[in-house]
Order: sequence, then structure tokens, then C-alpha cells
Amino acid sequence: MLIRGKLRQNLKVMRDSLREATYSAGSGRLHYRFMSRSFDRETAAVFAGIKEHRKRTRVGSEIFELRRRIHMIEKGLTMRPRRDTFAVAYIGMTIDRLSRAIDAGALDNVTIAWARDVLDAYFVATSTSSSRAIADAQRRYAQLDVSSEAPYGGPAPLGEPTRSVAYRDLAQLAASRRSVRWYTDASVDREIVDRAIEVAMEAPTACNRVPYRFRVFDSPDDARTIATIAGGTAGYVHNLQSIVVVVGDLAAYVEERDRHLIYIDSSLAAMSFLLAMQSQGVATCCINWPDITAPEKKLTDLIGLRRHERVVMLIAYGYGDPTGLAPISPKFPLPRARTFERLGE
Ligand SMILES: Cc1cc2nc3c(=O)[nH]c(=O)nc-3n(C[C@H](O)[C@H](O)[C@H](O)COP(=O)(O)O)c2cc1C
Repeated sequence: MLIRGKLRQNLKVMRDSLREATYSAGSGRLHYRFMSRSFDRETAAVFAGIKEHRKRTRVGSEIFELRRRIHMIEKGLTMRPRRDTFAVAYIGMTIDRLSRAIDAGALDNVTIAWARDVLDAYFVATSTSSSRAIADAQRRYAQLDVSSEAPYGGPAPLGEPTRSVAYRDLAQLAASRRSVRWYTDASVDREIVDRAIEVAMEAPTACNRVPYRFRVFDSPDDARTIATIAGGTAGYVHNLQSIVVVVGDLAAYVEERDRHLIYIDSSLAAMSFLLAMQSQGVATCCINWPDITAPEKKLTDLIGLRRHERVVMLIAYGYGDPTGLAPISPKFPLPRARTFERLGE
């Protein structure tokens, strides 16, 4: 027993010194190839995402690349000057994907209306083009059933900047938000949560793919079970009321270069969610989701996550307990976080 303990300790010392050696030699590639599996699951998830994306493309249920292409065409419609021939390289595949996604029943009404109005405007804008690819795509598009109740209408004029919220109010809202870890046992109406998610979904996402889902667990037992798995909640987990698991979908992408977008897009949405909850009197606290095998496996078993889905963060929410304390958590002075710069100076 003693010998085995010593052996294990020696092995750990050896492993630590090897890790130190590879760190100081600056040989990250060597280290992560032979010494550490820390990135393996991330790599596997990216790979699973690409695989799932390809599978969905094959069966016609792919919607993210379709959304990206519709977005690119919509953006093309806003260019100044606007060309009479554009999107030639992918208009055919866009129509193909749209047709297959409609057949597969994979599209919601809003996406259909968006695609329809953008494509209608596109074929008007390119009506003087001599491109055969466009003419062919238009012929195929004319045969699709793109009816949808949802209104859309195509790119809108910018008009005057909207100032419906005064800066002072926004600054005050931002400053009044604190990470709150003590909640009363009053439950938050689902309509309030939905309203906040609607605001969250107005956040920008790369090529408007919206590659995330807010999975809301609003029973205290569930919230506590899930938050316990995350860790980072010791000392207060027992009074959590509700939790959102923000899940990113790597099947939104076909290229490795886009592998970080789920984290960026989800986080932008998460921030809007926090503020929208705050504006309705509901307190929140982000909870870190560690990229470690054991918790990921536990959560996967518990709530069912596909291999291409990754947890970005958890967000606890509820009505703050007025008798509890919240850290003030002062931020840096402004110049620490901001520099105005000019190239060459
Ligand atoms: C991505 C992220 C992960 C976080 N993880 C935890 C956590 O695991 N446990 C916790 O108590 N607070 C967590 N927080 C809350 C931070 O501690 C808090 O935002 C920070 O101290 C600043 O305080 P404020 O939110 O009140 O401004 C997290 C915040 C973020 C943005």
C-alpha cells in the first residue's frame, strides 16, 4: 500500500516536471499531443459538429448554413452600389438547401418568411443579370412553396438612430446588475423568462445563425442538482431556484475556423438576458461551466446533450433575497480596459 502510494506520488512528480519542461520549452503542440488530453473533448465536439452538419446537409434538415447564405444575400442587397449580379457562387446551393429544408419540415415560419422576402428581393435586384446560375436558381425557386404567415419584408431603411432608451437608463440598469447568489423561494413566471430570452435573441450572432439554446430548469431541485455538477456554487447552491443551461450547437458549422462562435454568440445573448431579467426585477448569477470530462458526462446523462452540443455557461436566476448580501465587485478604472488608438502612432 505504502509502496503503491509512493509510486503514484513519484509518477505525479515526474508528470509535473515533464509538463513544466514542455511548458518552458514553449512546445504546446508536443505537450497537448503527448502529455495532456485537456483539449480532446473540445476537438471531438468540433469534429462531431462538422459530422452532424454534413449529415443534416445530406438528409436536407440543415438550417444553419441556409441561414448564413440567406444572411449573405440580404447583406448583398444592402450594398452601395448594389451589383446586378451577386451571390452567383452560392445562389444555386441556397435554393437547393431551402427546398430540401422545406421538404424535411425543418424550417420555422419566421425563417421561411425571411428567406422568401430576401430571395424575392434578390431576384428583382438581379433581374438584369445575364448569369445563368441566377436564372436557373430563380426557376427552381418559383416552384417552392414558401408561404408563411410570419411578416418580414426585407432589408429596412436605417432611418434616424433609435434612442428609445436613454443612455442614463441603460447605464443605470447595467450598474444595478450584480451577481446575486441569495434568492427568495418565490418562483419567476415563465412569461418573464420568455420576455428576457426574446431580448437575448436580438443579440448579434455570426451570420445570424443563432447557434444556441437556452434550456431552462425552473424547479429548485433541478437547479440545485445541475449547479452542483458545475461546482463554483459551494456555500449557496442549496438556495438556488432556477437555472438556465446555455448550450451551443457546433453542428452550425462546417469549418473548424468557426469553432469559437458558439461561445461568442451565446455570451452576447446571455448578457442581454441578464439585463432583460434585471429590468424586470429578477436577479441572476452566471456560473462557470468547467471544461472537464466528469461534469460534462454527468450533465450529458442528466439532461441529454449531443456530442456536438457544448455547455457555454449556466445562469441562475430568481428574486433576490433582500436580507442577503451581494459583492459589489468593482470593475477596473476605464483606462485599464480601453485604449483609443491610431495605426502608426
Ligand atoms: C462566465 C462566468 C462564470 C462565472 N462563474 C461563477 C461561478 O461559477 N460561481 C459564482 O459564484 N459566480 C460566477 N460568476 C459570477 C462572477 O463572479 C461575477 O460576475 C463577478 O465577480 C463580477 O461581479 P458582478 O457580476 O456582480 O458584476 C461567473 C461570471 C461569469 C461571467
